[in-house]
Amino acid sequence: MTIKEEAKKEVIAICASHKDEPSPLMVILEEIQKKLGYIPLEVQEVVSKEMGIPVAEIYGVVTFYNFFSLTPKGKYVVGVCLGTACYVKNSQQIIDKFAQSLGIEIGGTTEDGLFTVDAVRCIGACALAPSVSINGRVYAKVTPTEVDKIIADLRKKEETANG
Ligand code: FES
Repeated sequence: MTIKEEAKKEVIAICASHKDEPSPLMVILEEIQKKLGYIPLEVQEVVSKEMGIPVAEIYGVVTFYNFFSLTPKGKYVVGVCLGTACYVKNSQQIIDKFAQSLGIEIGGTTEDGLFTVDAVRCIGACALAPSVSINGRVYAKVTPTEVDKIIADLRKKEETANG
């Protein structure tokens, strides 16, 4: 997948706006993630060239933090918490059910680009375990039987929004 010329220009502009800062890499990557939704290797190479930072170092940062992504994410990012409090309340079953119902692997994105299923660490809602965060909204005490309803509701919301 090659990024568009336009996206490349945006990446160069982001780099340029942080050129004089002492350690700008995280800020640059955060802005790119926000703007493009992902940071593929091709983009990392642009950042490397613009900033004089080795690609290996950039790749290390992108893969270390799970809020950075190497591939495009879906419109709805389903973050199922696998932190201890949620895990003991069977959150593994919840994430498996999301993946199974959407027909994707954990970490994958549906072909229509609507859903990504991610395993996340504690989202600070342990009292609501098992908790799931979808685009910032927290779903509390989710059961496997509720999973299909959550997906159906979001699909319906999309259909309504698209007329
Ligand atoms: S462990 Fe899941 S919200 Fe804290």
